[in-house]
Amino acid sequence: MYSIAIDGPAGAGKSTIAKTIAKKLGFVYVDTGAMYRAIALYFLRKGVDGKDKEKIAELCPDIQVTIEYIDGEQQVFLNGENVSHLIRTEEVGTMASLTAAQPAVREALLQLQRDMAKNADILMDGRDIGTNVLPNADLKIYLTASVTVRAKRRFDELKAKGVECVLAEIEQDIEERDHQDMTREIAPLKQAEDAVLVDSSDMTIEEVADAVIGAFYRVKEEAAK
Ligand code: DC
Repeated sequence: MYSIAIDGPAGAGKSTIAKTIAKKLGFVYVDTGAMYRAIALYFLRKGVDGKDKEKIAELCPDIQVTIEYIDGEQQVFLNGENVSHLIRTEEVGTMASLTAAQPAVREALLQLQRDMAKNADILMDGRDIGTNVLPNADLKIYLTASVTVRAKRRFDELKAKGVECVLAEIEQDIEERDHQDMTREIAPLKQAEDAVLVDSSDMTIEEVADAVIGAFYRVKEEAAK
């Protein structure tokens, strides 16, 4: 069984790259951000303040997040409801970044994520996969890109969906999210010591996918020696 961990900041292209690579290698893709987003949706619906540590800890036992694969696509369920189509908004992303800093939320998801890596070749992406969830992953990638490039990509994505947006505001949101994810006390976003750094600022999706797949084959060859 093999595992690949991809961590990096918001908008670095993790999920696009991860999906491409998982398909090429025949691995199961696990998007851990979707799990944090599902929990964030629960708190948004309840009107809970994302920084209210006590309330969040009190409610966590009521939340069950499960994952299923339908036609090869990961679907995330919140207490039995498929919420996959409801979690991709900026509002949910911002709330996820806040609530993911809470210990009770991280504890609720850690075991589920580790268990998923036990039974299949997996490619898992998030913020703390190489540093915390799968410290023994066969390959760790830290995928990043400049704030300007990440903001422009997000801007183009939203525009393509017909969403009105302002580039400068997206850039500011990304900076705030980076700060929040990198400075929290538990499992902050950082490059694992043994992770390969990939800066996708001037690379295409195919180039990044090839770089990661190449690194994986080298790991596999080394292991076979
Ligand atoms: O990757 P994403 O934008 O879907 O993630 C949403 C938020 O969830 C992100 O800002 C921080 C949090 N997250 C986390 O703390 N740990 C992970 N492994 C994945 C996501």
